[in-house]
Amino acid sequence: MPLQGPAKVAIIGAGYVGASTAFALLFSPIVKEMVLVDINRRRAEGEAMDLAHAATLIRPVKIYAGGPADCAGARIIIFTAGANQQPGETRLDLVHRNTAIVREVLPPLLQYCPDALILMVANPVDVLTYVAWKISGLPENKVLGSGTVLDSARFRHLLSRHLHVDPRNIHAYVIGEHGDTEVPIWSLANVAGVDLEEFYLLDGTTEEETFRTGISRQVREAAYEIIERKGATAYGVALALSRITESILRDEKSVLTVSSVIRGLYGLEGEVAFSLPCLVGSQGREKILAIPLGAGELAALRHSATTLQEIITRLRL
Ligand code: LAC
Repeated sequence: MPLQGPAKVAIIGAGYVGASTAFALLFSPIVKEMVLVDINRRRAEGEAMDLAHAATLIRPVKIYAGGPADCAGARIIIFTAGANQQPGETRLDLVHRNTAIVREVLPPLLQYCPDALILMVANPVDVLTYVAWKISGLPENKVLGSGTVLDSARFRHLLSRHLHVDPRNIHAYVIGEHGDTEVPIWSLANVAGVDLEEFYLLDGTTEEETFRTGISRQVREAAYEIIERKGATAYGVALALSRITESILRDEKSVLTVSSVIRGLYGLEGEVAFSLPCLVGSQGREKILAIPLGAGELAALRHSATTLQEIITRLRL
């Protein structure tokens, strides 16, 4: 698929996450135009004005508020619209409110950009990725969710702090639900290709017994900790979205733990959307890397996937 050069993206929802994502994309030359769509049009206009002023100091990029018709020509629809978790709420608690929003808002958008890739962000992102896929009728590879891209980044951040290594040299993935049942894959975590046990030998260090459970808990609870302190998360997920967007628009084939519809893997019955490491390029989710898992990791992934499947079944799509 030939590269198509700088592109237009449509960001649906101009709240914390949508506006932060637009800000992050200001720094990405592969995005030449952004339209912000929000039920609160004045909010979208205000964000677009503010971002346009900022862009003046970076590079020429068109940013404006609009409606579904203004999304025509967008290569990616980044769907952030929805209720956010309140302190004490799980992501799954948002399912009915945000499914209703996707059902109402997505179809008109697809009328104007039928060829766009869909990148879901609103939570519960795995369930909403599945809902968007069902509603859109698009092939599975063209409907992605931000999934556990942010959780994998959090995992690498915490390992980086502990190991005193640049996080860019740490490969560590979280798979399954972007939520309470997510699964950090310790068995494949590595520093420059060296697994952790080997790294400790080279480094002359050891790992405390409770280290892994502690780090896994911190990864799982990161959003709750931030929401309790500042009310919402934004920057981390915005950069995760920017990373996914760049991999698509540049056809990078980066390995990212995006959420997408999965079937027939790890002995799972039926279909459900959750995160696995995938090659992400101009066609969206281009390849799933069904990584080898330890017995405990496989059981945890199956629990995560069936938790999501139960919720999807109850939605009666
Ligand atoms: C978080 C939100 C995006 O994990 O679910 O920060």
